[in-house]
Amino acid sequence: MREVNIAVIGATGAVGMEFLRILEERQFPADHIRLTASQRSVGKRIPVRGQELVVQATGPESLEGVDIAFISATSRVSLEMGAAAVEAGALAIDDSSAFRMRPDVPLVVPEVNGEDVEWHQGIIAIPNCATTPLVMAAQPLHRHNPVSRIVASTYQSVSGAGGAAMTELREQTRGAFQGGAPPPQAQPHQIAFNVIPRIDDFGPDGYTKEETKVREETRKIMHSPGLAVAATCVRVPVYVSHSAAVHMEFQHPMDADEARGILAEAPGITVVDAPEEGLYPMPVDVGGTDDVYVGRIRKDTSHPNGLVMWVVADNLRKGAALNAIQIAEEVLKRDCLKPGGKAAVAAASQSLND
Ligand SMILES: NC(=O)c1ccc[n+]([C@@H]2O[C@H](COP(=O)([O-])OP(=O)(O)OC[C@H]3O[C@@H](n4cnc5c(N)ncnc54)[C@H](OP(=O)(O)O)[C@@H]3O)[C@@H](O)[C@H]2O)c1
Repeated sequence: MREVNIAVIGATGAVGMEFLRILEERQFPADHIRLTASQRSVGKRIPVRGQELVVQATGPESLEGVDIAFISATSRVSLEMGAAAVEAGALAIDDSSAFRMRPDVPLVVPEVNGEDVEWHQGIIAIPNCATTPLVMAAQPLHRHNPVSRIVASTYQSVSGAGGAAMTELREQTRGAFQGGAPPPQAQPHQIAFNVIPRIDDFGPDGYTKEETKVREETRKIMHSPGLAVAATCVRVPVYVSHSAAVHMEFQHPMDADEARGILAEAPGITVVDAPEEGLYPMPVDVGGTDDVYVGRIRKDTSHPNGLVMWVVADNLRKGAALNAIQIAEEVLKRDCLKPGGKAAVAAASQSLND
């Protein structure tokens, strides 16, 4: 693999810090690494691959000489830096929702639709952290027996809302034992000792934006625009790793053993499914690992062609940073690190005006 110069935009965040760890673990072929964040973090020193890198301010100048910009900051930063990356001829791999549903931007989970990186025009988006584990579990089964409907209920950790939400869970938990939890700021309600059936704002149809993202992104990644998907996304007081109870309906009946066998062979999936021995995936075991874990696979007794399963993945790794690095590896493997065309600049600029 050729060496590339990279910029990590949002390097001090929950995803950015995980990204730097994975960069090192996977020995990603980065020649020069530039770290940027908000003004608050300028000058901060972060050890990366045995050297101390100094965090710089984020702006178009951050992209000078950069081949790939990994953006995990805010949607506003993504819109600005995505457009700037395209202008500068760098490839932007973006963690936010800013570009995901644009028809000219591939939305990629390499194990599912890695080939889509080939048509990028300067920006590739990674999915929401609740979508990625879902499509990882669904696609291998879908190849054998088309999936017609997915119903998912998620149990999402606070790190999905960033570093501030992790701090808030810690402080509220401590506060609850010391006479009163501090009021919520990063979440709409107290999260310690609670679950919140709301992630992001509600739309007119009663679904939250997070739930709508799960539906639309799943359809795009699986190239199945007509796929029926319904999600209920819930925040739980867990630090890292999102879980989901997933009901899938197939075109034909599928045996739980057959599904177990298919998933066990699928790249990036680990089946942990021996309930009688107390073995099923749980966030405490999955945090810090790379795979999507599937267990409790069983017939859906309410539907002749249905299966039910429990899916868990580290949202900061496979749900964000790892997926972004895997996309870059896919781009380098397929030799399609081409600069963005005019159409992509126009698309990114148009987003800024939306
Ligand atoms: N957390 C997840 O599980 C997850 C999964 C998938 C996608 N994502 C997406 O990844 C992105 C980052 O999420 P996160 O969880 O890492 O959030 P976070 O912990 O809040 O980190 C945000 C990062 O963005 C930087 N930042 C904030 N405002 C900025 C500005 N105006 N200019 C430049 N940098 C700025 C912050 O810098 P300072 O430290 O200086 O404030 C920090 O490095 C978001 O778009 C999120 O939607 C997150």
